[in-house]
Amino acid sequence: MTRPTRWRRHSAIASLVLATAATLLPTPASAAETTLGAAAAQTGRYFGTAVAAGRLGDSQYTTILNREFNSITAENEMKWDATEPSRGNFTFGGADRIATHARNNNKRLRGHTLVWHSQLPQWVKDIRDANTLRSVMNNHITTVAARYRGQIDSWDVVNEAFADGTTQLRPSVFRDVLGSGFIEEAFRTARAADPGAKLCYNDYNVEDWNAAKTQGMYNLVRDFKARGVPIDCVGLQAHFGSGGPPATFQTTLTNFAALGVDVQITELDIANAPTTGYANTVRACMNVPRCTGITVWGIRDSDSWRSGENPLLFDRSGNKKPAYDSVLSVLNGGTNPGGGVQVGVNYRLVASHSGKAADINGASTAAGALLIQWTAGSGLNQQFDFLSSGEGYYRVRARHSGLVLQATGTSTGADIVQQPDANSAAQQWRVVDHGGGVISLVNRASNLALDVWSASTADGARISQWTYTGGANQRFQLNRV
Ligand code: XIL
Repeated sequence: MTRPTRWRRHSAIASLVLATAATLLPTPASAAETTLGAAAAQTGRYFGTAVAAGRLGDSQYTTILNREFNSITAENEMKWDATEPSRGNFTFGGADRIATHARNNNKRLRGHTLVWHSQLPQWVKDIRDANTLRSVMNNHITTVAARYRGQIDSWDVVNEAFADGTTQLRPSVFRDVLGSGFIEEAFRTARAADPGAKLCYNDYNVEDWNAAKTQGMYNLVRDFKARGVPIDCVGLQAHFGSGGPPATFQTTLTNFAALGVDVQITELDIANAPTTGYANTVRACMNVPRCTGITVWGIRDSDSWRSGENPLLFDRSGNKKPAYDSVLSVLNGGTNPGGGVQVGVNYRLVASHSGKAADINGASTAAGALLIQWTAGSGLNQQFDFLSSGEGYYRVRARHSGLVLQATGTSTGADIVQQPDANSAAQQWRVVDHGGGVISLVNRASNLALDVWSASTADGARISQWTYTGGANQRFQLNRV
């Protein structure tokens, strides 16, 4: 393609004008947020993670933490074995480091957990006298909750009190010595110690409405609400297998919320981090107004207590996984806007038939430069982000130039070039979602699809527009860069 003379002659002025124009582009009306916390905040929710104090010195870890999450749960540091390892000897080193990090970085803090049969020191398990245990339990709750009074959004007051597969409490020193009333007593004591914190009952295997354990927990919460025992929220841990949440998950959230408590997803992780399982979990929360927030149980797969199952949103190198994209997308829209295309994210567009990347010819920054395919590399002229034009249409902006892709006409075979963003119909593309991050792009003005000429696999083959067939030379894998 020959460039029009006027562009050659005035290229310096032209690029100056273009650069200025690029900085003046209006924010798209339907701009989506680009971090989990900010995306959740759009609907008044939080998106948090479990944090281990010992990892706060890892800069990759804290970079992701500070960027993505707006709530923190101490993974282990506020548990009984950490905070009162021997009777009356309170140690808050790790817990304080986490609370300080939350405060300094403007994150909410969830308290986890005051009364639990696990990670419980042997000296507590050995108590046989009810009066002693009652006073030990209440002293523990009071001391820990009072230390963080005013800093905690929600406390998991009692954790995992129900037995799997039943509606009954599991055996524990608390149940065995104090009877089932220990839960009520714990909540009343916690309320007195930190009246500003929401008080939650937290458990796992209570996500399926049809499970006996869910019914046991539901009856407890209903009874507490009926009798005025202070309870404000329930936490569903949501440690899922690779199938994701049970089909009844949203029903469970809805039914708990209808009792007059907030519902929170408190420890989410899913074996192998399937995009659908994560999206379904987050969507269920988004669909229930009193589902107020979601916490994932760790940041990178290497940080996870289920590390062998790679269940989290970031890989061992701190890269976002596909499940991250699906979660962000649901938080941003409740649906999957643009078939997984995220505004504000840079992608390579890799043609499915050739494995070659969409590329602005010669890395030209000039208006009118042609779109071709080339062996995928790290060049910024192979990186594009999406700008929303509303109604499901997007402009596709080349990173090296700031110019957007434009069809040069409405006929089949017309070139695709880069031009200054005017948000014109020839610059707007509809996303056809093929799943797995593979899309086709259909031009708004021509209704023709982005298409590698003659399905060529050669470097330099022209990408033009053609009647949409959904063929491999019209399919592009979105590779986040
Ligand atoms: C886990 C932590 O992630 C591990 O580091 C620790 O060794 C054991 O506890 N339910 C809970 C969490 O409520 O506190 C547990 O956390 C996971 C199951």
